Amino acid sequence: MTDLWWKRAVVYQIYPRSFADADGDGMGDLRGVIDHLDHLAELGVDVLWLSPIYKSPQDDNGYDISDYQDIDPLFGELATFDELLAGAHRRGMKLIMDLVVNHSSDEHPWFVESRSSKDNPKRDWYWWRPAREGMEPGTPGAEPTNWGSVFGGPAWNYDKETGEYYLHLFSPKQPDLNWENPEVREAVYAMMRWWLDRGVDGFRMDVINMISKVLPLTDGRLTAGAAYGDGGPSYINGPRNHEFLREMHDQVFAGRPGMLTVGEMPGVTVDEAIKFTDQDRHEVDMVFQFDHVWADRGGDPWKLIPLQLTVLKGIFGRWQAGLAEVGWNSLYWNNHDQPRVVSRYGDDSPEHRVAAAKMLGTVLHLHRGTPYVYQGEELGMTNAPFASIDDFRDIESRNHYAEAIARGATPDEVLATMRPMSRDNARTPMQWDATEHAGFTTGEPWIAVNPNHTEINARAARADPDSVFHHYRRLIELRHTEPVVAHGDFTMLLGDDERVYAFTRRLDDVELLVLGNFSASPATPAIDGWDDADVLIGEGAGVVLGPWEGRVLKRVG
Ligand code: NOJ
Repeated sequence: MTDLWWKRAVVYQIYPRSFADADGDGMGDLRGVIDHLDHLAELGVDVLWLSPIYKSPQDDNGYDISDYQDIDPLFGELATFDELLAGAHRRGMKLIMDLVVNHSSDEHPWFVESRSSKDNPKRDWYWWRPAREGMEPGTPGAEPTNWGSVFGGPAWNYDKETGEYYLHLFSPKQPDLNWENPEVREAVYAMMRWWLDRGVDGFRMDVINMISKVLPLTDGRLTAGAAYGDGGPSYINGPRNHEFLREMHDQVFAGRPGMLTVGEMPGVTVDEAIKFTDQDRHEVDMVFQFDHVWADRGGDPWKLIPLQLTVLKGIFGRWQAGLAEVGWNSLYWNNHDQPRVVSRYGDDSPEHRVAAAKMLGTVLHLHRGTPYVYQGEELGMTNAPFASIDDFRDIESRNHYAEAIARGATPDEVLATMRPMSRDNARTPMQWDATEHAGFTTGEPWIAVNPNHTEINARAARADPDSVFHHYRRLIELRHTEPVVAHGDFTMLLGDDERVYAFTRRLDDVELLVLGNFSASPATPAIDGWDDADVLIGEGAGVVLGPWEGRVLKRVG
């Protein structure tokens, strides 16, 4: 067993624009993060992951970067960043940055040069292609391939200046970098080394399983009724993905022990994840897979289907077994792209919210892998009551609305799907206290604060020993103090039970039983031999569970 430090660690994700605003402009900033470092230290997390704070036109809230080596004035400046890094380190927390290099902003000087002429030396830094053969450039259907972009519309944008198209898997303001070009890779590695030299402790890598494309770029399969072909097979886990990550490791991380790398990988399979995270292959430490957050989506990001607990267990069970010997899991319910888990897989009614949020935390944190806490999850923050399209800010959500209305849907119909699923649910401001704007800002927040901040907020949670906050604190502490939590093996129980999530963890003679009741009625799972076990987490004892109750039991022998 290799005892890598991050196997015992918990990571906390900060989405800076929604975390805390110190200068009153309604937008969270780095000074706001500095002001709240003690909250994070009290929670006990080991690592902070900062969503992008680099210079950016903010088309996709900073995931469109126009200068990788500077801070956007919205958030502060490099000196403020250095202060934040020092403040985190002083409190024993590491800090990792978001690395967004599948694409840059169209306002990045690299792209500005690239688009300026066909013979510019940086032309080949991005994916430029002529119109489809025999078609008039710029006319509908003349795009080089039939792929749709993740944020709606075609994945190609026509550039009149040079009469060619560039590829953007996300918004037109996020042109894809051409990783086939060694100069691009070297520029990215140099930038990464610059941040590591500054003292950061690693990177979360945005859609890093999309950087290698299958050549030549060809049409994707078109299903009946779909506006665009599925380009996924041409860019998800492309042929050079492993090679590029290995090269990055050699060029950036070799000789720098103690770093943490986590690759965001939509659509990654267990078999591929084993390779990506095999320590002997020197690619990344862990990946974010998506299967468990796609369990309530009918194959379409906007089609909500009821969660079946057995499906969720099947997914986690498969990932736990797959990465048991080689590789490592990351564990998350929430991030800035996902609706709030207590509203999604739990119960956010006043009666059950606290129990459900605690239970979900317990179940997740007791799996084998490195848990990630997204800001506000430690308070049991909920989805937001968005009333109209004007309440949404997210490019993906707003584009979806416009497209659905154009297809003939009514506003009420579209809003009904957006309310539970929009990424903006994760992006409402952090709820620090019960005052106006939840103590997030003294100005006008860039997105409305959830009105339930009068009940759900950090000040109230810190003062209440039974709060979700103190529960998360205990979960994090347990990972630090009980070796079985980090290193024990995993066995799923009751795979066919639609209400109770149950598994055991074992390390030598220590065994844990973890239980979670995913329902509002009491449950008594048929599991024997635990009546006298010690209760590590949760109220009550044995296996009898109240509504939404979670529990961790321990026995030795
Ligand atoms: C994944 C990020 O998490 C998401 O917020 C972003 O929109 C896309 N990648 C594009 O960078």
